Amino acid sequence: MTAHLDTDIAIGGLFEEEHSAEIVNARISADANPRLAQVMAVLTRHLHAAIKEIEPTHDEWFKAIEFLTRTGQMCTDWRQEYILLSDVLGATMLVDAINHRRPKGATPNTILGPFYVANAPHYENGANICLDGKGEPTLVSGRVLDTNGQPIAGATLDIWQTNDEGFYDVQQKGVQPDYNLRGLFTTGADGYYAFRTVKPRHYPIPADGPVGKLLGELGRHPNRAAHLHFIVTANGYDQVITHIFTPDCQYLHEDTVFGVKKELIAEFTTQSDPAVAERYDLPVPFLAVNWDFVLTPA
Ligand code: BEZ
Ligand code: FE
Repeated sequence: MTAHLDTDIAIGGLFEEEHSAEIVNARISADANPRLAQVMAVLTRHLHAAIKEIEPTHDEWFKAIEFLTRTGQMCTDWRQEYILLSDVLGATMLVDAINHRRPKGATPNTILGPFYVANAPHYENGANICLDGKGEPTLVSGRVLDTNGQPIAGATLDIWQTNDEGFYDVQQKGVQPDYNLRGLFTTGADGYYAFRTVKPRHYPIPADGPVGKLLGELGRHPNRAAHLHFIVTANGYDQVITHIFTPDCQYLHEDTVFGVKKELIAEFTTQSDPAVAERYDLPVPFLAVNWDFVLTPA
């Protein structure tokens, strides 16, 4: 006995082009997990609609299968080519948007990416996360607030970014010190945080696999707009996985994974205040970013 029959035209389960998706979906058992049944029925419907629109040759269909095979073969414990595929198709950002619809004024989420490393060193506010002294000195500071503008004390900011050549520490083992440009900070009673870093640079996503090749064939570049990553966590609040973007990056409007949101573009101002420079051990002039994070209740 089958269920989920979308039409009564599917006669006896025999294949016919016109009602192909309904015929396949009619085989889903009434005992199947309802969510799985729904997901597979929708995917089948859209897959069949796409095939009917594209009308692939056998050769083209085989190339699509080969692409998926190579994508799977590229995956290892540290390389997830399918996530990269989801990223460049905008699917990662769409799933994230659906799951994090926040009120206006709250800090939006964006993509996590593969370069997060847990257990970065925990620093005092004001510390320098640039361990090799290279790059344009930048002070990032601000507050973590709730949606009423009240400071959140004890919030954790987990930060990671590229150096000014566009590489994460994990991509340059032995060149950059471990945990370069990574750090954990905790807000004080006033919700305040501050750290010293360098201005990040744009960089290509890993492009030596089938996803990079596909981008090339589509005339798309593999570059991400320059950014700093943040995971902001506080008890009783929805965790925010986000970035801030440099405003002058050439890829700001064409980030290859669609991670840029207008609310996440920061101002990097040149400053020369000697008192601030002395407090944070910065050369004059230095760059400064003032950035508040606004969290919603869990
Ligand atoms: C990143 O920002 O680290 C990233 C995001 C998606 C794909 C590759 C890298
Ligand atoms: Fe990144």
